Amino acid sequence: MKENVISEENIRQLVNDFYSKVRDEKELGSIFIKAIGNDSEEWKPHLQKLCDFWSSIMLGSRRYHGSPFQRHLMLPKFERVLFDHWLSLFEETTREIYTEEIADRFVEKSKQISKSLQLGLYQRFPEK
Ligand code: HEM
Repeated sequence: MKENVISEENIRQLVNDFYSKVRDEKELGSIFIKAIGNDSEEWKPHLQKLCDFWSSIMLGSRRYHGSPFQRHLMLPKFERVLFDHWLSLFEETTREIYTEEIADRFVEKSKQISKSLQLGLYQRFPEK
């Protein structure tokens, strides 16, 4: 049964499943592993932060305090096309967990945020 309500628990599932796919992807995985590390203890704070982030966005919990843009700006430069890989893995994961209507809401938000990150990081209008 797919989830038709967003909860802290299913956000945690989304975040865990998504980043486990990210870590398995060659290029994306290596960016994250360089920035965060490779063992589960090192990943715990990142995963918690991302749960807080999506909970703030989708449930209005205001638990996330941070600046994603600044964080991404500090990463070594990477190819813009990786944003498309990120988005497609994220969409795939949302559709595994949620009903179409809820997955669409996550996907829409992820695309908006991705656009604004790219706008700042690459200093021109995103193609999509
Ligand atoms: C190719 C695309 C992306 C890559 C390679 C990437 C990579 C990373 C990495 C390595 C970190 C950890 C930085 C650190 O702690 O030192 C991070 C943090 C984060 N990312 Fe991304 N990211 C991407 C796209 C996105 C998108 C599209 C979103 C949102 C929809 C997002 C949301 C976040 C958030 C909220 C954090 C935590 C920031 C904080 O520390 O407060 N990322 N990202």
